[in-house]
Formats: sequence, structure tokens, C-alpha cells
Amino acid sequence: TARTPLIAGNWKMNLDHLQSIAFVQKLAWSLKDAKHDYSAVEAVVFPPFTDLRSVQTLLDADKLQLGLGAQDLSAHDSGAYTGEISGAFLAKLDVTYVIVGHSERRTLHAEDDEVVAAKVAAAHRSGLVPVVCVGETAADLEEHGPSAVPVAQLKAALAQTPAGADIVVAYEPVWAIGSGTAATAEQAEQVCAALRDALREVHGAESAGATRILYGGSVKASNIAAFMREPNVDGALVGGASLDVDGFASIVRFPS
Ligand code: G3H
Repeated sequence: TARTPLIAGNWKMNLDHLQSIAFVQKLAWSLKDAKHDYSAVEAVVFPPFTDLRSVQTLLDADKLQLGLGAQDLSAHDSGAYTGEISGAFLAKLDVTYVIVGHSERRTLHAEDDEVVAAKVAAAHRSGLVPVVCVGETAADLEEHGPSAVPVAQLKAALAQTPAGADIVVAYEPVWAIGSGTAATAEQAEQVCAALRDALREVHGAESAGATRILYGGSVKASNIAAFMREPNVDGALVGGASLDVDGFASIVRFPS
């Protein structure tokens, strides 16, 4: 099955309102200038909640083939959850993707496997595609080897999800996030292949073959091509390098 490469730019809590607008306008020019065939790749930006609407409006006006994602959602559909954002709210803003279980949510907001599984299910109830993040810490790597923790996290995250439900998986070794030191392409391939095996085991070969598995952790213009050459790496979840217009545009145009 052909999987369209996916390049996801997670802005995290960066770029205020005016910066977001300027960023998307510049990105629009940069991508148009390059006269690249963007049907071969799907690029998605993940702004903070407060800028989803303004970014969506700009993408629409520019007829830019950039997708829109959110960085998180509530596990609940509605109710007394002060400060939370439901999947339904996001769907109303034409959001397509939502990051679930990012290591910063797991670590800083105590999201465990159960919460992650509930959020994956909540995303599907609202018609969103969850980008399910998994990855081991340096201590996990030492203790359990490269694949055990990410595979266990993925299986737990899919506990409430039927085969065939649309998901994207993002393998992000915690030690590589924001560190400037990415995994090697071989390391990423080894774990992404193990994650695809796990998908096959849980959801069957067809679903596993169609699911995109991204690598994330210090991806930049200079290393994207190496990751994309690996058979089980179908794209990247980019943090820091997605905040630079030219850098992000070069990642989107990675030489295929
Ligand atoms: O969501 C993105 C990842 O956490 C990677 O961040 O590219 O800054 O290492 P980074």
C-alpha cells in the first residue's frame, strides 16, 4: 500500500497570534514559490488552540494544501471540565489531526496509557485523526532496549480502538526531543518496524500497511532525507525546526 508521506509541524506553545499569522503567510509564499508537486506529500501545522481559527482562515484564503491539526484534546465530549477543549470543538474549526500522548503531556501533565487510550477514542468520536505519540526515555532504552516501551505504549493506546480506525503513529524517543541529537535513521527504522508489527498484530495486515508511522525528535532539513529513505518511516513530527519558515518548507520538500 502506498502511504503518502506526512510532515507535521508541532508549534508547541510558541508563536503568538501575530507571529502565527505572519508565519503562515510566509509559508504560503515559500511553498508557492517552490513550484513543488505537493500531491506527493501531506504537510500539516499544529498551532496552539487559540490560533486554530485564524490559521485555518488563512489556509483557506490562500488555497494552500496545508492541513490543520491541534496539539491535544479532552478525553471527554462535554461537561464540567474547566479549561479543556473537546474533539467536537476542534472538528468545528476544520481541524483534521490531533496529537495525543505527546511525551510532554505524559511527563508534565501525568497522562498515562489509560488517558491516552481515552483521548484516541475521543478523537475518533469527533471524526479527528489522532497522531498517537509513543517513545522511550534514555533510562527505558537502557533497561528495556529500543522497542519494548514504544510498542507497549502503542498497544495500550489502541485498547479502545477498532481495526480500520484512521490513526497516525509518531515514534518520538524522549531523549531525542528538543535535544539536537536525533536518533539515527537505522534506530528510527528499527522501532518503526516494530511498531508496524504491533499494529499488524492488533489490527491486522491491511490496517498496519496503510497506517503512517512518523519519526520525531530533532528532525531538521539536514536529516529528513535519511529518515524518509527508511521503509517504515512515513514522515516526521517536527518541533523546533517547524518554527522556521524556510526550514519547515525545506523539510516539506525533502528530496524524495
Ligand atoms: O512534537 C515534536 C517533537 O516533540 C519533536 O520536537 O523537533 O524540537 O525535537 P523537536
